[in-house]
Amino acid sequence: MESILKNRPALEHAVWQAAEVAGYLWQKGWAERNGGNITLNITEYVDDEIRALPAISEPIAIGMHLPMLKGCYFYCKGTQKRMRDLARWPMDNGSIIRILDDCEHYEIIADNPVMPTSEAPAHLSVHNYLLEKGSPCRASLHTHPIELIALTHNKAFLEKDVATRTLWSMIPETKAFCPRGLGIIPYELPGSVMLAEATIRELDDYDVVMWEKHGVFAVDVDIMSAFDQVDVLNKSALIYVAAKSMGFEPDGMSDEQMAEMTRAFNLPK
Ligand code: 13P
Ligand code: ZN
Repeated sequence: MESILKNRPALEHAVWQAAEVAGYLWQKGWAERNGGNITLNITEYVDDEIRALPAISEPIAIGMHLPMLKGCYFYCKGTQKRMRDLARWPMDNGSIIRILDDCEHYEIIADNPVMPTSEAPAHLSVHNYLLEKGSPCRASLHTHPIELIALTHNKAFLEKDVATRTLWSMIPETKAFCPRGLGIIPYELPGSVMLAEATIRELDDYDVVMWEKHGVFAVDVDIMSAFDQVDVLNKSALIYVAAKSMGFEPDGMSDEQMAEMTRAFNLPK
């Protein structure tokens, strides 16, 4: 059977960008086994031929009602699939789904009946939230970055904006490229509706959110940009760890230096 990507260069580009990012996640050590997931809202690339494609699965319940997603299409990493495999074979380790008109179920339409990620409730409710807000973000990423997760094993970093301030102050670029910082979500069961709901609440104030003792969730216009945000945050965490392992608490940039950065780059306060 022909891939849905054939003769659709824009869709093919988006899916292969997810594959490229999946390779980086594996190389970074953030994607053990099936760890992490990616979803892309690909509705803008959908043509009449795709809309007419029959389902290749039964309807699957999302577990919540997501009215903004009516008629939307997504590329989703498959549950239990490895990022390192997705990097080479994105359509064998992920699938394209269509949201049904009841806004509570989806069906798989291509290329293979690969069951979407167990974090679909979080991803899909985030996409619903992004559309509701009129956000241009179309990609969401959940991954397990080692040093950022390690921070959440210390209660001090779970206090509001403590981790954000520490990470921003390690290197000027972090605030420039992750200007809304890192939101913290207290531990919830992976794949749960509770986790999905907490994620959307926190995305009101932050572009990247941390699931305590589990991983991060980032949204952006495309998957490469979502990856970049996590990458700059984890770079800061690595600098923090390096200083601590040299035996000292890092000074961090001063408040004056942070304020100067914020003014110079016109960043939110
Ligand atoms: P999936 O294999 O279902 O995508 O789950 C991976 C994961 O990281 C769950 O939080
Ligand atoms: Zn996870």
